[in-house]
Amino acid sequence: MKALEGIKILDFTHVQSGPTCTQLLAWLGADVIKVERPGVGDATRKQLVDVPGADSLYFTMLNHNKRSIELNSKNDTGKEVLTKLIETCDVLVENFAPGALDRMGFSWERIQEINPRIIMASVKGFGPGKYEDCKVYENVAQCAGGSASTTGFLDGPPLVTGAQIGDSGTGLHLALGIVTALYQREQTGRGQKVLAPMQDGVLNLCRVKLRDQQRLEAGPLNEYSQFGEGIPFGDATPRAGNDSGGGQPGKILKCKGWEDDPNAYTYFIIQAAVWEHVCDVIGEPGWKTAEGYAKPPERLDKLTAIFDRIEEWTKTKTKYEVMEICNPLNIPVGPILSMKEIMEDDGLRKTGTIVDVEHPERGTYVSVGCPIKLSDSPVEVTRSPLLGEHTAEILQQVLGYDGEDLARVLDSGAVGDSKKVAAE
Ligand SMILES: CC(C)(COP(=O)(O)OP(=O)(O)OC[C@H]1O[C@@H](n2cnc3c(N)ncnc32)[C@H](O)[C@@H]1OP(=O)(O)O)[C@@H](O)C(=O)NCCC(=O)NCCS
Repeated sequence: MKALEGIKILDFTHVQSGPTCTQLLAWLGADVIKVERPGVGDATRKQLVDVPGADSLYFTMLNHNKRSIELNSKNDTGKEVLTKLIETCDVLVENFAPGALDRMGFSWERIQEINPRIIMASVKGFGPGKYEDCKVYENVAQCAGGSASTTGFLDGPPLVTGAQIGDSGTGLHLALGIVTALYQREQTGRGQKVLAPMQDGVLNLCRVKLRDQQRLEAGPLNEYSQFGEGIPFGDATPRAGNDSGGGQPGKILKCKGWEDDPNAYTYFIIQAAVWEHVCDVIGEPGWKTAEGYAKPPERLDKLTAIFDRIEEWTKTKTKYEVMEICNPLNIPVGPILSMKEIMEDDGLRKTGTIVDVEHPERGTYVSVGCPIKLSDSPVEVTRSPLLGEHTAEILQQVLGYDGEDLARVLDSGAVGDSKKVAAE
């Protein structure tokens, strides 16, 4: 059995934020029915195409384990089918632009009328307020949520991160909201509305930076490199380069081969508990007892110089050698891994976090599997659906259409290419 077995999700999501949420729920056992515009589908199917004519990796990697029904929700018969889906499903998930669902005629009030037990979960760019009507994509959320202003180097512009904290991060927040609402429904019998605004999700992930904003009022942030470099602080949390975000100083340092390999670097943390080991490894045993070095607070004004000295040592080792030498001594270090290295990582393959997936149009491709491991709810990653692949199956098996009634829906133009669907 899987954790969410028996839960039906009406997946009205597109692009990245919503689909990451429903993909997770599908991996945890929910039956996810993706509703897509006839003949078009989720726009990502045809974005960043690498195999002409096939669904893109953008789409396939965000929509595993789902079924697809083509449905025009602005057509009368389409609205009838959508109403039946709302009656039947436990959760409706959507991430349309603000107001799109209301314009289709499916306000939250109407949805509750149709099914008072349903949970309606939405991703929007912003919560209620002056920006609530804005459309938002990943990088806008990173900028509005405090990530960009606190990422990058002090002397450079704000930076967006490669991790999709606005889209996939908000999808994760939404998934938690949904399973929590499902749990509460067990007690109350009622559904509820779940909202995960992208700005709020990014800010939640940046909470240590809001911590630092308030600490600034008490004085300089002495664990930031700029403190030791004598650069004054302004009135907002600054960009901290690759400084550690916590109480244990750390930095990205060059390793052997850095001149030619853009990823020949390691992250190196001088955790207080293992300072003596660090001193021995880099050949500075005197620093174990020297005034100005022996105690953690004394080191804060010379972090840049200390890391420069450690880097002299790391430059003589590969990033993997640094790991092999430091790990047995409990010195926290980590190699900077490229996507190529991660894709080839045996350990991640063994745990199912990197998987090979077969696809009828693409052949085999590599994907990220479920990153959350439940000991009693196994995950099997299956391919994303072709557009409308399950239209007839869902109309018949989930909604109970048959005979003339089924023919009426198929011929109405509400579900795409009826001939193709009927032939299946
Ligand atoms: C992502 C986003 C910017 C994309 O904007 P967009 O491409 O213009 O898409 P929209 O959500 O506005 O939807 C476009 C239209 O398609 C319509 N549509 C979607 N599915 C449909 C279907 N099955 N049948 C008929 N119409 C459909 C919508 O009703 C909407 O019509 P409207 O403008 O008349 O109301 C926007 O959806 C958004 O801001 N979403 C919330 C935040 C978010 O999730 N952002 C991250 C995306 S990764």
